[in-house]
Amino acid sequence: MGNKINNEPFVWKDEYNVDINIIDNQHKKFLDILNELKIIINNNSCKEHVSNIFFQIAYLIDHYFIKEEIYFKDCKYPNLEQHKKSHNIFIDRIIQFQKDVEAKKPDLCVEIYYFLEDWFDEHILKYDKEAVEYLKKSGVN
Ligand SMILES: [Fe+2]
Repeated sequence: MGNKINNEPFVWKDEYNVDINIIDNQHKKFLDILNELKIIINNNSCKEHVSNIFFQIAYLIDHYFIKEEIYFKDCKYPNLEQHKKSHNIFIDRIIQFQKDVEAKKPDLCVEIYYFLEDWFDEHILKYDKEAVEYLKKSGVN
């Protein structure tokens, strides 16, 4: 199959830390899922493992998005609504992916992988960091 991806695992870097344990731990778990997806894709075992990937993503949504939103709300983060919107777009996309699994869409793990990789770069490393840095600057922690 022509859909191999670079199998070098992502390694957590100090610069990813926002220094709030709950958030950092969840971001690390997110990276673990990406690494697991790399293995699954390169082993051609998407079909067998994709439901477990969804299970892990659903766990992160239930635990991390909500905690993050509560934390940002408690700290009166002004861009909370925008941030929540971004989370909701993610959730909708995951629901769509689940429908694609039922429809037995080919190369789904590759699509999920690139979607999650983008999310890591665009949301986790930008929006989550921005939010926490803003809150720290405003003296909330
Ligand atoms: Fe977030």
